[in-house]
Amino acid sequence: MIVNPVLSKEIPLPAVRIGASGVAPAKTILFGEHAVVYGEPGIAIPLWEIQTSARLLPFPTDDTAQEFRIVSESAELDAAFSDLSESNPLKKLIRLIQEAFSIPVLPDCILEIQSAIPIASGLGSGAAASVAIIRAFAAAYGLELSDEKTSELAFEIEKCYHGMPSGLDNTTISFGKPLFFRKGKGFEPIHLPDRLRLIVADSGLKSVTSEVVADVRASYHQFAPVIREIGQLVRKARTALENGDLFATGALMNENHRLLQKMTVSNEKLDDLAAVALQNGAIGAKLTGAGRGGNLLALAETAPDTLRIHNALEKAGARIIR
Ligand code: PMV
Repeated sequence: MIVNPVLSKEIPLPAVRIGASGVAPAKTILFGEHAVVYGEPGIAIPLWEIQTSARLLPFPTDDTAQEFRIVSESAELDAAFSDLSESNPLKKLIRLIQEAFSIPVLPDCILEIQSAIPIASGLGSGAAASVAIIRAFAAAYGLELSDEKTSELAFEIEKCYHGMPSGLDNTTISFGKPLFFRKGKGFEPIHLPDRLRLIVADSGLKSVTSEVVADVRASYHQFAPVIREIGQLVRKARTALENGDLFATGALMNENHRLLQKMTVSNEKLDDLAAVALQNGAIGAKLTGAGRGGNLLALAETAPDTLRIHNALEKAGARIIR
């Protein structure tokens, strides 16, 4: 029982279903990263092959503390909620969920987060964790939560990770479909060619999105024409994708990478990987996400090309994500 402060009387705690879980995919930005922060459009797709899941688990029998805790092997975290600092994004998220779902007291359980999405690699690991946790809590309390509301809540936490996020990550991950997005204006789902042979290769270099975004902001006046050029390119890319024109799409990926280089968000490793992909038959290659590390996207025309590009990228030191 808890005391309702308005009625000044005891009311039962809301029922919670321990064992409830939620999942969310990774995402990759096909076109328009960085420019999307300044109101230009961006195109992103969910990557359902790699996911984050969150689950509310009962305390193990030998757990004497019996206090709500968060456990995540991938984030190397095992901490009682009360021990987390108030600035911790997971703590902020749980508080936000409590407020949004009217949960006065944390449930007696462990929140376990499992993620196959590499952290700080441009694949939306932070937004995916937020969405999976929001969904796990909604399921535990029997709440029907729209993708829109899920995205709205996750966006609040994106502000902790990114500083000034566009909202592209949380929107793509919450709705789980390819989309053409504009900051503050919502999104339109887009239709992708049936066989989009998109290779996602992890450079292994970590990069902190908020730092890269802040650097771009510091040179905004210098980059403004490039940002507008990226916006025009993204509109063309939408047409190319919707027409199923792979070669135009690939050429626009190369051009987008070149413009991102101009904004100083690529680096030697990503440029080398892009060159390796192109030398091995990719029809387009670009960095994805904040850049200065993280992942490279390459587009292949055929299955044998895909295999050859995979092998060459692996040989060049990348880890193939998809
Ligand atoms: O690196 P990621 O996956 O967090 O993507 C960042 C994308 C940016 O356009 C650079 C920032 C944003 O908020 O859209």
